[in-house]
Amino acid sequence: MPKVTILPVDLTAEVPAGDSLLDAGHAAGVPMEAGCFNCSCGTCAVEIVSGMGNLSPVSAAETEVLRANDCDPSRFRLACTARVQSGEVVLRQLD
Ligand code: FES
Repeated sequence: MPKVTILPVDLTAEVPAGDSLLDAGHAAGVPMEAGCFNCSCGTCAVEIVSGMGNLSPVSAAETEVLRANDCDPSRFRLACTARVQSGEVVLRQLD
């Protein structure tokens, strides 16, 4: 199963392919910031330290929300929306 590590707490969970980064955080026992759970508020933005290629492609809607929250879509994703497809992903929660 794909593996997701959450920084800075440095906890890891193995999750089924297709789970969101939010799901992975919960599986790892890490409280995750979230608001709408539906790709519109930007509260759940996280920095992807490695493994961006192991996530579902970023949509136009996600890009728009990330940019509205001053997050570069090449480095950040919305945890409610980005889905783990394979391999390993390391993310860093924002302050
Ligand atoms: S929780 Fe609102 S965009 Fe993810």
